[in-house]
Amino acid sequence: MKKILVTGGCGFIGTNFIRLLMKETDYEVTNLDALTYAGNLENLKELEGDKRYRFIKGRIEDEQVVSSIMKDMDAVVNFAAESHVDRSIKSARPFITTNVMGTQVLLDCFRQAGCKGPFVHVSTDEVYGSLGKDDPAFTERHHLRPNSPYSASKASSDLLCRAAWKTFGLPVIVTRCSNNYGPFQFPEKLIPLMIINCLEGRKLPIYGDGMNVRDWIYVEDHCRGVLAALEKGVPGAIYNLGGNCELTNLKVVETIIDMLGKTKDLIEFVADRPGHDRRYAMDIGFSQKSLSWSPKVDFEKGMEKTVNWYIENRQWWERILSGEYRSYYKNHYGSEL
Ligand code: NAD
Ligand code: TYD
Repeated sequence: MKKILVTGGCGFIGTNFIRLLMKETDYEVTNLDALTYAGNLENLKELEGDKRYRFIKGRIEDEQVVSSIMKDMDAVVNFAAESHVDRSIKSARPFITTNVMGTQVLLDCFRQAGCKGPFVHVSTDEVYGSLGKDDPAFTERHHLRPNSPYSASKASSDLLCRAAWKTFGLPVIVTRCSNNYGPFQFPEKLIPLMIINCLEGRKLPIYGDGMNVRDWIYVEDHCRGVLAALEKGVPGAIYNLGGNCELTNLKVVETIIDMLGKTKDLIEFVADRPGHDRRYAMDIGFSQKSLSWSPKVDFEKGMEKTVNWYIENRQWWERILSGEYRSYYKNHYGSEL
């Protein structure tokens, strides 16, 4: 049985990934998560007591914590990050601490512990920068030209992974994925924010003209891509993952309005995000061929699952919005976060 360290497992994608590992593999999973505003221990509460799973509260940039965990590990999947572009515009430093310093600490401890690997680093299409309307989609060979403090910090960690592979021969694999949506996404990101605002009859704030394009992927498809990279990936390789689903933000919001039987007068065009990337699109041909992976859930089906999940799990997001979920941690671990 392989022992795997998953970082950031209490966040949106990490939660979905750990659920997939527990359901479909026999890995022994250690989840290291700092429980920032975006980490929610309740997401994985049904795993408490499972012998194949353990949770450790800690930060990836804390060398003492990471080195003590790493010595028992075979492989690593690094999801832990500050992940929201708008927050990085307000304050970039936490992004450097976690995304850059944290990734380097993980790489150092992985090397010192002599882990067999692989070390899968979960990166993003945002490291490539922005595309023009008629540009071909990003391939893995596209230059890195990040535009936000978030994407610059992710590009930095991405390159530190490359350096660890080149310099020390570490079995490092990088995946770069497009925008995810699905259950457990923190309601600051476009899709859950719009679903919740719509359900609550609140305004739907669209930045700029709403014509920015994102390539949407259902979170389970992303998780299956990361698992394929972990199991079939080649050290040093980069794998683009995406949903083959380019949509403008306006189209996404209109879809949500239609699904919830609301009207377009909820839409409010607001000031644009500074440095707002116009278009992302992923060429996933290399991953499809070399990992025998493809996204399976189309946008209509994925959105149906997602909207239903937010309707059925009102308590989950109400508790997040009110900060109440923190009392769950206190009850279980006897201390404040
Ligand atoms: P998220 O913000 O929902 O979750 C991040 C998790 O990391 C949280 O549980 C948080 O508590 C934890 N964390 C933050 N700082 C930490 C630290 N210093 N030490 C330990 N844990 C820490 O993010 P997400 O949307 O699940 O994204 C996960 C990863 O996937 C990130 O690396 C992100 O860059 C990447 N990614 C996300 C998307 C997307 O659309 N969400 C797309 C491509 C790539
Ligand atoms: P977001 O979910 O923050 O992801 P990212 O910036 O990493 O792509 O935003 C997705 C798109 O939606 C992006 O073009 C910004 C836009 N957006 C809005 O128009 N309004 C909002 O309230 C938010 C959060 C995002």
